[in-house]
Amino acid sequence: MPSELVVPSIHGEEGQRLIQRFSSVPGLLQPVEGYTLYCWAKDGPGKGVVVELGSARGYSTCWLAAGSQISQRGKVFACDSFHYGENACFVSDEAVGIPLFQDTVQRMGLSDWVEMRVGDSAEIGRSWQPSQSIRLLFIDADHSYTGTYSDFMAWFPHVEPGGVVGFHDIGTNPGCSQLYSCLLYFNPQIQEVMAASSLRLIRKPLEGEGVFLPPSIEEAVACYRRVLDDRPSDVEVLTRLGQIHLEQQQLDEAERRYRSALAVASAKDGLYDSLAEVLRRQGKVAEAIDCYNHMVNPTAQQSVNLAGLYVAQGKHDQAEACYRHVLTLTASSPVVWNRLGFVVGLQGRIDEALQCFQRAVVLQPAAFSKSLDETTIYLNHLRGMLQDKINRIDAILKM
Ligand SMILES: C[S@@+](CC[C@H](N)C(=O)[O-])C[C@H]1O[C@@H](n2cnc3c(N)ncnc32)[C@H](O)[C@@H]1O
Repeated sequence: MPSELVVPSIHGEEGQRLIQRFSSVPGLLQPVEGYTLYCWAKDGPGKGVVVELGSARGYSTCWLAAGSQISQRGKVFACDSFHYGENACFVSDEAVGIPLFQDTVQRMGLSDWVEMRVGDSAEIGRSWQPSQSIRLLFIDADHSYTGTYSDFMAWFPHVEPGGVVGFHDIGTNPGCSQLYSCLLYFNPQIQEVMAASSLRLIRKPLEGEGVFLPPSIEEAVACYRRVLDDRPSDVEVLTRLGQIHLEQQQLDEAERRYRSALAVASAKDGLYDSLAEVLRRQGKVAEAIDCYNHMVNPTAQQSVNLAGLYVAQGKHDQAEACYRHVLTLTASSPVVWNRLGFVVGLQGRIDEALQCFQRAVVLQPAAFSKSLDETTIYLNHLRGMLQDKINRIDAILKM
Protein backbone atom coordinates (compact mmCIF):
# COMPACT_ATOMS: atom_id res chain seq x y z
CA MET A 1 0.00 0.00 0.00
CA PRO A 2 2.17 2.89 -1.21
CA SER A 3 1.72 6.38 0.18
CA GLU A 4 -0.54 8.44 -2.01
CA LEU A 5 0.02 11.49 0.15
CA VAL A 6 2.77 13.99 -0.63
CA VAL A 7 3.97 16.32 2.10
CA PRO A 8 5.04 19.65 0.55
CA SER A 9 8.34 21.24 1.53
CA ILE A 10 8.36 22.71 5.02
CA HIS A 11 9.99 25.76 3.41
CA GLY A 12 6.84 26.49 1.42
CA GLU A 13 4.30 29.15 2.39
CA GLU A 14 2.00 26.80 4.35
CA GLY A 15 4.82 25.13 6.32
CA GLN A 16 6.38 28.46 7.27
CA ARG A 17 3.01 29.93 8.28
CA LEU A 18 2.33 26.96 10.59
CA ILE A 19 5.82 27.06 12.11
CA GLN A 20 5.22 30.73 12.88
CA ARG A 21 1.75 29.99 14.28
CA PHE A 22 3.05 27.38 16.77
CA SER A 23 6.39 29.05 17.50
CA SER A 24 5.40 29.94 21.09
CA VAL A 25 4.34 26.36 21.96
CA PRO A 26 6.93 24.28 23.85
CA GLY A 27 7.34 20.84 22.32
CA LEU A 28 9.61 17.99 21.42
CA LEU A 29 8.93 17.58 17.70
CA GLN A 30 10.89 18.87 14.75
CA PRO A 31 8.75 21.25 12.67
CA VAL A 32 9.09 18.87 9.70
CA GLU A 33 7.60 16.09 11.85
CA GLY A 34 4.76 18.35 12.98
CA TYR A 35 4.06 19.37 9.39
CA THR A 36 3.99 15.72 8.31
CA LEU A 37 1.40 14.95 11.02
CA TYR A 38 -0.58 18.00 9.95
CA CYS A 39 -0.68 16.82 6.32
CA TRP A 40 -1.84 13.31 7.29
CA ALA A 41 -4.48 14.75 9.65
CA LYS A 42 -5.64 17.04 6.84
CA ASP A 43 -5.49 14.75 3.81
CA GLY A 44 -4.83 11.23 5.11
CA PRO A 45 -7.14 8.29 4.44
CA GLY A 46 -10.13 7.19 6.49
CA LYS A 47 -13.21 8.47 8.22
CA GLY A 48 -12.46 7.94 11.92
CA VAL A 49 -10.97 10.22 14.54
CA VAL A 50 -7.37 11.18 15.28
CA VAL A 51 -5.80 9.92 18.52
CA GLU A 52 -2.54 11.09 20.04
CA LEU A 53 -0.74 9.26 22.87
CA GLY A 54 1.62 11.59 24.72
CA SER A 55 0.53 15.20 24.30
CA ALA A 56 2.72 16.96 26.90
CA ARG A 57 2.32 20.72 26.44
CA GLY A 58 0.35 20.25 23.21
CA TYR A 59 2.85 20.91 20.43
CA SER A 60 2.12 17.81 18.33
CA THR A 61 -1.57 18.15 19.29
CA CYS A 62 -1.62 21.57 17.62
CA TRP A 63 -0.20 20.28 14.34
CA LEU A 64 -2.69 17.40 14.28
CA ALA A 65 -5.67 19.54 15.30
CA ALA A 66 -4.80 22.25 12.75
CA GLY A 67 -4.87 19.56 10.05
CA SER A 68 -8.25 18.31 11.21
CA GLN A 69 -9.55 21.85 11.55
CA ILE A 70 -8.65 23.00 8.06
CA SER A 71 -10.30 19.98 6.46
CA GLN A 72 -13.19 19.96 8.99
CA ARG A 73 -12.64 16.27 9.74
CA GLY A 74 -13.31 15.83 13.45
CA LYS A 75 -11.50 16.06 16.72
CA VAL A 76 -8.11 14.98 17.98
CA PHE A 77 -8.23 12.92 21.19
CA ALA A 78 -5.18 13.85 23.24
CA CYS A 79 -4.28 11.11 25.76
CA ASP A 80 -1.75 11.81 28.49
CA SER A 81 -1.33 11.45 32.22
CA PHE A 82 -0.56 15.19 32.02
CA HIS A 83 2.21 14.94 34.56
CA TYR A 84 4.18 17.26 32.36
CA GLY A 85 5.06 20.72 33.59
CA GLU A 86 7.13 23.78 32.68
CA ASN A 87 10.53 23.08 31.09
CA ALA A 88 9.60 19.45 30.38
CA CYS A 89 9.74 18.59 34.12
CA PHE A 90 7.70 15.80 35.65
CA VAL A 91 4.96 17.13 37.94
CA SER A 92 3.28 14.78 40.38
CA ASP A 93 -0.06 16.49 39.97
CA GLU A 94 -2.04 16.55 36.72
CA ALA A 95 -3.70 19.73 38.09
CA VAL A 96 -0.50 21.45 36.90
CA GLY A 97 -0.13 19.69 33.54
CA ILE A 98 -3.74 19.96 32.39
CA PRO A 99 -4.03 23.77 32.54
CA LEU A 100 -0.71 24.14 30.71
CA PHE A 101 -2.00 21.91 27.91
CA GLN A 102 -5.40 23.64 27.81
CA ASP A 103 -3.73 27.04 27.69
CA THR A 104 -1.77 26.01 24.58
CA VAL A 105 -4.80 24.63 22.77
CA GLN A 106 -6.89 27.69 23.59
CA ARG A 107 -4.18 30.22 22.63
CA MET A 108 -3.83 28.48 19.26
CA GLY A 109 -7.58 28.68 18.64
CA LEU A 110 -7.96 24.90 18.57
CA SER A 111 -10.16 24.20 21.63
CA ASP A 112 -13.05 23.00 19.47
CA TRP A 113 -10.77 20.47 17.78
CA VAL A 114 -9.18 18.82 20.78
CA GLU A 115 -10.57 16.57 23.46
CA MET A 116 -8.44 15.44 26.40
CA ARG A 117 -8.31 11.95 27.83
CA VAL A 118 -6.48 11.90 31.15
CA GLY A 119 -4.78 8.74 32.38
CA ASP A 120 -2.52 5.90 31.30
CA SER A 121 -2.54 5.80 27.51
CA ALA A 122 -2.74 1.99 27.22
CA GLU A 123 -5.57 1.88 29.80
CA ILE A 124 -7.52 4.48 27.83
CA GLY A 125 -7.00 2.38 24.71
CA ARG A 126 -8.30 -0.78 26.36
CA SER A 127 -11.56 0.97 27.28
CA TRP A 128 -11.92 2.80 23.93
CA GLN A 129 -15.39 2.47 22.34
CA PRO A 130 -14.94 -0.01 19.47
CA SER A 131 -17.56 1.97 17.49
CA GLN A 132 -15.20 4.96 17.35
CA SER A 133 -12.63 3.95 14.79
CA ILE A 134 -9.32 5.73 14.36
CA ARG A 135 -7.95 6.97 11.04
CA LEU A 136 -4.70 8.36 12.46
CA LEU A 137 -2.94 7.24 15.65
CA PHE A 138 0.20 9.03 16.82
CA ILE A 139 2.29 7.27 19.51
CA ASP A 140 4.64 9.48 21.55
CA ALA A 141 4.05 8.49 25.21
CA ASP A 142 6.13 5.93 27.16
CA HIS A 143 9.09 5.34 24.82
CA SER A 144 10.35 2.12 26.41
CA TYR A 145 9.95 -1.12 24.44
CA THR A 146 7.23 -2.42 26.77
CA GLY A 147 5.51 0.98 27.03
CA THR A 148 5.30 1.32 23.25
CA TYR A 149 4.21 -2.33 23.03
CA SER A 150 1.34 -1.75 25.49
CA ASP A 151 0.21 1.35 23.62
CA PHE A 152 0.40 -0.29 20.23
CA MET A 153 -1.41 -3.46 21.28
CA ALA A 154 -4.17 -1.53 23.10
CA TRP A 155 -4.83 0.88 20.24
CA PHE A 156 -4.01 -0.90 16.98
CA PRO A 157 -7.28 -2.92 16.99
CA HIS A 158 -9.19 0.40 16.94
CA VAL A 159 -7.31 1.71 13.89
CA GLU A 160 -9.44 1.24 10.81
CA PRO A 161 -8.13 -0.87 7.91
CA GLY A 162 -5.95 1.42 5.80
CA GLY A 163 -5.57 3.80 8.76
CA VAL A 164 -2.21 5.27 9.67
CA VAL A 165 -0.04 4.87 12.78
CA GLY A 166 2.80 7.29 13.53
CA PHE A 167 5.73 6.57 15.85
CA HIS A 168 8.01 9.28 17.18
CA ASP A 169 11.72 9.12 18.15
CA ILE A 170 12.54 6.20 15.88
CA GLY A 171 16.31 5.95 15.57
CA THR A 172 16.83 8.26 18.53
CA ASN A 173 15.21 6.31 21.40
CA PRO A 174 16.28 2.65 21.66
CA GLY A 175 13.08 1.21 23.21
CA CYS A 176 10.50 2.41 20.70
CA SER A 177 13.03 2.00 17.85
CA GLN A 178 13.54 -1.69 18.62
CA LEU A 179 9.81 -2.22 18.87
CA TYR A 180 9.30 -0.51 15.52
CA SER A 181 12.01 -2.68 13.90
CA CYS A 182 10.34 -5.82 15.30
CA LEU A 183 6.96 -4.71 14.04
CA LEU A 184 8.22 -4.34 10.48
CA TYR A 185 10.48 -7.42 10.55
CA PHE A 186 7.90 -9.89 11.86
CA ASN A 187 4.93 -8.40 9.97
CA PRO A 188 5.87 -7.99 6.32
CA GLN A 189 2.22 -7.16 5.60
CA ILE A 190 2.79 -3.83 7.40
CA GLN A 191 4.66 -1.29 5.30
CA GLU A 192 6.28 1.99 6.20
CA VAL A 193 4.62 4.73 4.17
CA MET A 194 6.60 7.79 5.24
CA ALA A 195 9.60 8.90 7.27
CA ALA A 196 10.37 12.45 8.38
CA SER A 197 13.31 12.94 10.72
CA SER A 198 12.50 10.57 13.64
CA LEU A 199 8.82 10.20 12.70
CA ARG A 200 7.75 6.97 10.98
CA LEU A 201 4.32 6.21 9.57
CA ILE A 202 2.84 2.82 8.75
CA ARG A 203 -0.54 1.87 7.31
CA LYS A 204 -2.71 -0.87 8.69
CA PRO A 205 -3.38 -3.51 6.04
CA LEU A 206 -6.83 -3.45 4.48
CA GLU A 207 -7.35 -7.09 5.39
CA GLY A 208 -6.32 -9.26 8.33
CA GLU A 209 -6.00 -8.09 11.93
CA GLY A 210 -3.20 -10.34 13.12
CA VAL A 211 0.05 -8.79 14.23
CA PHE A 212 2.97 -10.67 15.76
CA LEU A 213 4.98 -8.58 18.20
CA PRO A 214 7.26 -9.86 21.01
CA PRO A 215 6.05 -8.29 24.30
CA SER A 216 9.52 -7.49 25.66
CA ILE A 217 13.02 -6.89 24.37
CA GLU A 218 14.09 -10.26 25.88
CA GLU A 219 11.34 -11.97 23.88
CA ALA A 220 12.43 -10.05 20.80
CA VAL A 221 15.99 -11.37 21.25
CA ALA A 222 14.61 -14.93 21.62
CA CYS A 223 12.56 -14.51 18.41
CA TYR A 224 15.54 -13.18 16.46
CA ARG A 225 17.65 -16.09 17.73
CA ARG A 226 15.07 -18.56 16.49
CA VAL A 227 15.31 -16.94 13.05
CA LEU A 228 19.08 -17.51 13.18
CA ASP A 229 18.54 -21.19 13.92
CA ASP A 230 17.07 -21.43 10.41
CA ARG A 231 19.12 -18.74 8.70
CA PRO A 232 22.41 -18.26 10.59
CA SER A 233 23.67 -15.73 8.03
CA ASP A 234 20.68 -13.38 8.12
CA VAL A 235 22.54 -10.06 8.14
CA GLU A 236 19.50 -8.05 9.18
CA VAL A 237 18.87 -10.21 12.25
CA LEU A 238 22.56 -10.39 13.19
CA THR A 239 22.70 -6.58 12.97
CA ARG A 240 19.56 -6.15 15.08
CA LEU A 241 20.93 -8.48 17.75
CA GLY A 242 24.24 -6.61 17.69
CA GLN A 243 22.39 -3.36 18.23
CA ILE A 244 20.24 -4.68 21.08
CA HIS A 245 23.30 -6.13 22.85
CA LEU A 246 25.17 -2.87 22.34
CA GLU A 247 22.28 -0.91 23.87
CA GLN A 248 22.21 -3.33 26.78
CA GLN A 249 25.99 -3.01 27.25
CA GLN A 250 26.47 -6.74 26.50
CA LEU A 251 29.55 -5.84 24.54
CA ASP A 252 31.12 -9.27 23.93
CA GLU A 253 27.84 -10.58 22.55
CA ALA A 254 27.40 -7.43 20.43
CA GLU A 255 30.92 -7.84 19.04
CA ARG A 256 30.23 -11.48 18.17
CA ARG A 257 27.02 -10.61 16.29
CA TYR A 258 28.55 -7.71 14.37
CA ARG A 259 31.57 -9.81 13.38
CA SER A 260 29.25 -12.57 12.11
CA ALA A 261 27.28 -10.01 10.11
CA LEU A 262 30.47 -8.53 8.65
CA ALA A 263 31.60 -11.96 7.51
CA VAL A 264 28.60 -12.26 5.19
CA ALA A 265 27.38 -8.71 4.47
CA SER A 266 28.00 -7.01 1.16
CA ALA A 267 27.55 -3.42 2.42
CA LYS A 268 29.88 -3.26 5.40
CA ASP A 269 30.47 0.42 6.31
CA GLY A 270 27.53 0.70 8.74
CA LEU A 271 28.52 -2.56 10.41
CA TYR A 272 32.15 -1.43 10.79
CA ASP A 273 30.85 1.77 12.38
CA SER A 274 28.73 -0.17 14.91
CA LEU A 275 31.52 -2.66 15.65
CA ALA A 276 33.93 0.25 16.17
CA GLU A 277 31.55 1.66 18.78
CA VAL A 278 31.45 -1.71 20.58
CA LEU A 279 35.26 -1.96 20.50
CA ARG A 280 35.65 1.64 21.69
CA ARG A 281 33.46 0.88 24.70
CA GLN A 282 35.53 -2.23 25.37
CA GLY A 283 38.65 -0.06 25.37
CA LYS A 284 40.01 -1.75 22.21
CA VAL A 285 40.92 1.54 20.54
CA ALA A 286 43.40 0.16 17.99
CA GLU A 287 40.85 -2.44 16.78
CA ALA A 288 38.17 0.26 16.56
CA ILE A 289 40.50 2.39 14.41
CA ASP A 290 41.07 -0.64 12.22
CA CYS A 291 37.30 -0.85 11.59
CA TYR A 292 37.15 2.73 10.32
CA ASN A 293 40.17 2.13 8.12
CA HIS A 294 38.32 -0.76 6.46
CA MET A 295 35.43 1.45 5.40
CA VAL A 296 34.94 2.07 1.70
CA ASN A 297 33.17 5.41 1.93
CA PRO A 298 33.12 6.79 5.48
CA THR A 299 30.69 9.60 6.22
CA ALA A 300 31.75 12.89 7.79
CA GLN A 301 30.43 11.67 11.17
CA GLN A 302 32.40 8.43 10.88
CA SER A 303 35.59 10.38 10.13
CA VAL A 304 34.89 12.52 13.21
CA ASN A 305 34.50 9.32 15.25
CA LEU A 306 37.82 8.04 13.90
CA ALA A 307 39.50 11.33 14.80
CA GLY A 308 38.18 10.95 18.36
CA LEU A 309 39.84 7.54 18.57
CA TYR A 310 43.17 8.97 17.37
CA VAL A 311 42.88 11.65 20.07
CA ALA A 312 42.33 8.88 22.63
CA GLN A 313 45.57 7.28 21.41
CA GLY A 314 47.43 10.61 21.56
CA LYS A 315 47.92 10.55 17.76
CA HIS A 316 47.03 14.20 17.30
CA ASP A 317 48.53 14.50 13.81
CA GLN A 318 46.32 11.65 12.54
CA ALA A 319 43.27 13.19 14.24
CA GLU A 320 44.12 16.48 12.56
CA ALA A 321 44.21 14.79 9.16
CA CYS A 322 40.73 13.34 9.79
CA TYR A 323 39.25 16.67 10.86
CA ARG A 324 40.81 18.40 7.84
CA HIS A 325 39.29 15.73 5.61
CA VAL A 326 35.86 16.33 7.19
CA LEU A 327 36.22 20.07 6.60
CA THR A 328 36.67 19.40 2.89
CA LEU A 329 33.14 17.89 3.06
CA THR A 330 31.47 20.29 5.53
CA ALA A 331 33.53 23.47 5.85
CA SER A 332 30.94 25.22 7.99
CA SER A 333 30.80 22.81 10.94
CA PRO A 334 31.70 24.70 14.13
CA VAL A 335 32.10 21.41 16.01
CA VAL A 336 34.79 20.21 13.61
CA TRP A 337 36.62 23.58 13.64
CA ASN A 338 36.60 23.36 17.44
CA ARG A 339 38.05 19.89 17.51
CA LEU A 340 40.61 20.76 14.88
CA GLY A 341 41.63 23.73 17.05
CA PHE A 342 41.96 21.37 19.99
CA VAL A 343 44.28 18.88 18.27
CA VAL A 344 46.30 21.62 16.57
CA GLY A 345 46.72 23.31 19.97
CA LEU A 346 47.86 20.02 21.50
CA GLN A 347 50.60 19.95 18.86
CA GLY A 348 51.78 23.39 20.06
CA ARG A 349 50.58 25.41 17.03
CA ILE A 350 48.78 27.96 19.15
CA ASP A 351 48.16 30.69 16.54
CA GLU A 352 46.62 28.16 14.18
CA ALA A 353 44.50 26.71 16.98
CA LEU A 354 43.17 30.15 17.87
CA GLN A 355 42.24 30.72 14.24
CA CYS A 356 40.23 27.49 14.30
CA PHE A 357 38.41 28.43 17.52
CA GLN A 358 37.67 31.87 16.11
CA ARG A 359 36.21 30.23 13.04
CA ALA A 360 33.99 28.02 15.24
CA VAL A 361 32.73 30.99 17.24
CA VAL A 362 31.97 33.02 14.12
CA LEU A 363 30.01 30.06 12.73
CA GLN A 364 28.04 29.51 15.94
CA PRO A 365 28.11 32.62 18.14
CA ALA A 366 25.06 31.58 20.20
CA ALA A 367 26.74 28.40 21.48
CA PHE A 368 29.78 30.38 22.58
CA SER A 369 27.72 32.45 25.01
CA LYS A 370 26.93 29.30 27.00
CA SER A 371 29.44 28.78 29.76
CA LEU A 372 30.16 25.11 29.03
CA ASP A 373 30.21 24.83 25.27
CA GLU A 374 33.03 22.96 23.56
CA THR A 375 34.92 26.08 22.48
CA THR A 376 35.05 27.40 26.02
CA ILE A 377 36.25 24.06 27.33
CA TYR A 378 38.98 23.74 24.70
CA LEU A 379 40.09 27.37 25.09
CA ASN A 380 40.37 26.88 28.83
CA HIS A 381 42.37 23.72 28.20
CA LEU A 382 44.70 25.69 25.93
CA ARG A 383 45.01 28.43 28.53
CA GLY A 384 45.91 25.75 31.12
CA MET A 385 48.64 24.38 28.82
CA LEU A 386 50.09 27.84 28.25
CA GLN A 387 49.87 28.71 31.93
CA ASP A 388 51.81 25.56 32.69
CA LYS A 389 54.58 26.68 30.32
CA ILE A 390 54.62 30.19 31.83
CA ASN A 391 54.88 28.67 35.31
CA ARG A 392 57.88 26.62 34.18
CA ILE A 393 59.52 29.72 32.61
CA ASP A 394 58.95 31.62 35.87
CA ALA A 395 60.43 28.75 37.87
CA ILE A 396 63.57 28.69 35.68
CA LEU A 397 63.93 32.47 35.90
CA LYS A 398 63.78 32.23 39.68
CA MET A 399 66.60 29.68 39.85
C1 LIG B 1 7.83 13.00 24.76
S1 LIG B 1 6.45 13.63 25.57
C2 LIG B 1 5.35 13.97 24.27
C3 LIG B 1 5.76 15.17 23.47
C4 LIG B 1 4.65 15.77 22.67
N1 LIG B 1 4.08 14.87 21.70
C5 LIG B 1 5.08 17.06 22.02
O1 LIG B 1 4.75 17.29 20.87
O2 LIG B 1 5.80 17.86 22.66
C6 LIG B 1 5.78 12.21 26.30
C7 LIG B 1 4.46 12.44 27.01
O3 LIG B 1 3.90 11.18 27.23
C8 LIG B 1 3.30 11.15 28.49
N2 LIG B 1 3.27 9.76 28.94
C9 LIG B 1 4.33 8.92 29.13
N3 LIG B 1 3.90 7.71 29.50
C10 LIG B 1 2.56 7.77 29.53
C11 LIG B 1 1.53 6.82 29.83
N4 LIG B 1 1.84 5.56 30.15
N5 LIG B 1 0.26 7.23 29.77
C12 LIG B 1 -0.05 8.51 29.44
N6 LIG B 1 0.86 9.43 29.13
C13 LIG B 1 2.15 9.07 29.19
C14 LIG B 1 4.13 12.07 29.36
O4 LIG B 1 3.35 12.60 30.40
C15 LIG B 1 4.56 13.13 28.35
O5 LIG B 1 3.68 14.21 28.39
